[in-house]
Amino acid sequence: FEAPYPPYDPTDKQSFSYETVVKRWPIIVTSIIDQLYQMNHGLSLLEPQSDVFDVKHMNPERKSAIIREAKTIMEKVSRVRYEMGRDYPMPEIEDDGEPLVREYNLELKRLAGEGKGTWFTCPWLFAECYLYRLLRSFFKLTDHWAAFDQFAAQKDDTFMKSSVAVAQIATTMHGMESTKDILESDPSKLEVLFREMLQVCLWGNATDLSLLTHMTIADIENLQSVGKEAQTARQEYILKDDQQAVWDHVRTLKNARIDIVLDNAGFELFTDLIFADFLVTYTPYVSKVVFHPKAIPWFVSDVLPTDFLKTIRELIRSPSFSSPSSTSPTSKHSAGHLKLLANRWDRYLSDGTFALSVPLETPIGAPDAAPIHFWTSPWPYWDLRERDEELFGCLEGSGLVVFKGDLNYRKLTGDIRWPVSTPFATAVGPLAGAFPILSLRTNKADVAVGVDEAVVEKLEENWRISGKYALISFIPKADA
Ligand code: F6P
Ligand code: MG
Repeated sequence: FEAPYPPYDPTDKQSFSYETVVKRWPIIVTSIIDQLYQMNHGLSLLEPQSDVFDVKHMNPERKSAIIREAKTIMEKVSRVRYEMGRDYPMPEIEDDGEPLVREYNLELKRLAGEGKGTWFTCPWLFAECYLYRLLRSFFKLTDHWAAFDQFAAQKDDTFMKSSVAVAQIATTMHGMESTKDILESDPSKLEVLFREMLQVCLWGNATDLSLLTHMTIADIENLQSVGKEAQTARQEYILKDDQQAVWDHVRTLKNARIDIVLDNAGFELFTDLIFADFLVTYTPYVSKVVFHPKAIPWFVSDVLPTDFLKTIRELIRSPSFSSPSSTSPTSKHSAGHLKLLANRWDRYLSDGTFALSVPLETPIGAPDAAPIHFWTSPWPYWDLRERDEELFGCLEGSGLVVFKGDLNYRKLTGDIRWPVSTPFATAVGPLAGAFPILSLRTNKADVAVGVDEAVVEKLEENWRISGKYALISFIPKADA
């Protein structure tokens, strides 16, 4: 599919892609170097500082090999940082035995042929995906770091900081238990709750670790607070609101399977599980939810298969969630509610109500994890049928495919400079109508469609990227 406009790229100095290449990527790659540096330091002092390496039982040769390899990775990452800042040609990805190396390199070659093969001239969507795949190859090409997730510590850390919002939502969910009978007999009440749960899931996307470079924890807590008032206040920030159309569609389902193409781990994943839990526990419409994670560490905060399982286990076991330090009765209650909820999710995983699209134990990069490699390719989703027929066929059988977050939105619309009033169904190209599509996205990148020009004119200048505004975009399946 050929879009009628060009994609966003950093040659436009006003674009967020420019700011990303200049400011945000250097911060992200530097954080990887810092982390490896600190881990090496810890290793040389034999500090058992993480569960990544079993330092206690390590022989000296192994330890030196780990340290040596970390240095090699740091050198490679530093080089990327240096070259990026000077607009060098993007380097080829070395063959690391994992999928997509050839595809990325071929596309890079093609772009270079058009004079777009450097960090500042390449289409932003391609370059950004490329960067994460390149970083993955640095780790994969070592003996000791191949299974390492360079973003795990950041993900864990930020999740812990959202424990207040997590507890609050768990208690809201618990309150719903007693209304189950009423909900069954009164679809209008179910509709109200559906909207509320959908919005919890939507705003869960406002927490984006790669945006934390300019966001404070207070900002995040503010975005995470739930409840009627907060929801109403946020209504004005939803610039495209297809909630009614989604509800009208969901109501027609019966014991359907829905799919969630995940975005970020931690708080956002928690809110995805909340939405999924609501649909299978309280409505007759959905009886199974399949979650689609990423194959490799991706855009800092995205969910890997290990993050998925870890999150549920953490909610059941971890002291920060199950017994928050405050001893107030409310927080004790919340901790109990959270435990019940997480245990239910564990049960749902065992009985197949919840499932990942790959086995739960899938390690990083696993070449045989075919159903998830498409999500870490650079391709716009309008190419899905051509690029991955099997995945396309699987999604065709879904009652609803929910695409979470900003990057999924950029891929749905090809990250193209669409005029803002372009209908969403036009912007997703030939994917429109293939299966019911719901995109839940808070705006963190330039592309946006389906919004009135008149509405946009009244907004503050940074509405496209501040993470404060959101789009709920739905396209039904075309009639067969
Ligand atoms: O725009 C900032 C950014 O890092 C983009 O690169 C990317 O599209 C997005 O944020 C990631 O956000 P999300 O986690 O919502 O996909
Ligand atoms: Mg993400």
